[in-house]
Amino acid sequence: MDHDEQLKNICEGRATAAPAELCCYSGDGSQIKGRPDYVVFPKTAGEVSQILAYANKHLIPVTARGSGTGLAGGAVPVKGGILLDMSQMNQIISIDINDIQVTVEPGIVSDKLNEALKPYGFFFPPDPGSAATCTIGGQIANNASGMRCVKYGTMKNYVLDLEVVLADGTVIHTGSNCLKSSSGYDLSRLFVGSEGTLGIITKAVLRIAPLPKARKMIMISFPSPENAGLSVSRVFAAGVTPSACEILDKTSVSVLAKLDPDVILPRDGDVVLFEVDGSKTTTGESAELLAKACEDISSSILITDDPVKMKEIWDARRLLGAAVSKLDPTKTRIYVGEDLGVPIQKLPAMISKVYEITNDAGLTPMIYGHAGDGTVHVGLFIDVLDEKEWEKIHNTADRLHLAAIELGGTVSSEHGIGAARGMYLEKQCGPAFDVMKAIKKTFDPNGILNPGKLGM
Ligand code: LAC
Ligand code: ZN
Repeated sequence: MDHDEQLKNICEGRATAAPAELCCYSGDGSQIKGRPDYVVFPKTAGEVSQILAYANKHLIPVTARGSGTGLAGGAVPVKGGILLDMSQMNQIISIDINDIQVTVEPGIVSDKLNEALKPYGFFFPPDPGSAATCTIGGQIANNASGMRCVKYGTMKNYVLDLEVVLADGTVIHTGSNCLKSSSGYDLSRLFVGSEGTLGIITKAVLRIAPLPKARKMIMISFPSPENAGLSVSRVFAAGVTPSACEILDKTSVSVLAKLDPDVILPRDGDVVLFEVDGSKTTTGESAELLAKACEDISSSILITDDPVKMKEIWDARRLLGAAVSKLDPTKTRIYVGEDLGVPIQKLPAMISKVYEITNDAGLTPMIYGHAGDGTVHVGLFIDVLDEKEWEKIHNTADRLHLAAIELGGTVSSEHGIGAARGMYLEKQCGPAFDVMKAIKKTFDPNGILNPGKLGM
C-alpha cells in the first residue's frame, strides 16, 4: 500500500494527493512556496499520533497548518511531505470561568473563541491582525501577539497546558490546569513559538481575562516619526500602561484615510494611537496622564471613547498591512524585513534607520506596528514583474534585519522565523542557536517536523 492509502486508512479517508488540492496548500501570506505531497485532515490526537509514527518510520516530512495566515512560511511545506490541515480540530472543549481558563482544539479561529467568551464577560487577549481567520494552534506555534500585548502579553503568557504529539507519535502534556507551577522545565513555553518543529499541538488550556468595563483612545500626532517613537518611553515613564500603542507614520495615516475617508485620525503628522482600558474613572485618569507626558513633543491630540469610532479605527488598522498597495495599484505589498523588534528606547533609532535604508534603495516604506512592544512593521511594496525591484527589496530586508540585530533587537517581533528569516537566527542568538539545534535533535532526531524552518 502506498503512503496515500495508508494516510487515508488512518484518517477514515480524510487525506488527498490530488494536485489541485496540493496547490492550495503551497503558500501562506509570505512569498515562501512549497508543495506538499499529501494533505491530511486529522480529527483527533490519536490520528495525529498514528500519522507521526508512520511519517517518522518512513522519514516523511510533516508540516502543520491552521489557516495559513502566517507571514514567514511557517506552515509552508518547503520540503514536501505531509501537510496536516488542523482546521477540523476546531472545538471549544470547555469554558471554565471559575478557573479563568478555556480548553480548545488547535483549529479554533481566534475571533470565534472571543465570540464564545463575550457572553461570560471574558476575552482571550492576544490579538493578531489576522484574528478573524487565524487559528489558536497557529498563534501558539508562532507565539503570536498583536495590538493589545503591550498590556496583556503574548501567547506565551496564556498557555497553561498543551497536549502535544511528539515525532514518534507519543502524546504528552506540557503543563496542567493550575494557574502556576514550579515543576521542572517549562515545556509549555518551549512549544510556544517552536513553529511546529518539536511536536504537533492537539489541545490547549489557555488562561483568559475579564473584559474591561471601559476603553478610551488617545490619538496623538507628532512632527516626526522619531518623536512618535520617543512618546512610548515617555508614556511608560509616566506610569501609564496602555492597552494598545500603535505607531502610524504619515504614510500609514494616508493609507488609512484612503480606506476610510471619515476615520477620525489626526492628519497633521505621524501618529501614535494609544488605547487605555479599565473603568471609566481609571481610563479618564490614564488618558490625562498620557496626553500630558506627550504634550511638549506632539502636534495635536484627539481623544474618544465612542465605541463606534474606536471600532472603525481598529477595523481599518487591521487592514493596513496589505492596504499600503492602495498608494500605487501597480505595486504589491511584499512581506520581507517587515517584523523588526527593538527595545523601546531604541525605537527612534530603528525608525531613522528604516528611513535611511529604504531611502538608499529608493523604496517608500510605510512604518507601523505595536510600538508599545518595540515592534516596527515595515510595509514595502514593489512592481512584482520587475526583477530589479525584487533584488532591491531583498537587499533592503537584509539591511533592515541586520540593523535590528545591531540595535539589540530581534528579526521577528511576532511573525516568526519560518523559512523567511532562518539565516539571521544564529547571528541574533549567538551560541544559544547551538542549544536550539540540540533541543531540536532531542525532540525530532529524524528531522521530520517542519524541516527547513528556524534556520535548521
Ligand atoms: C499587523 C500584522 C501584520 O500588525 O502583524 O497588522
Ligand atoms: Zn503586527
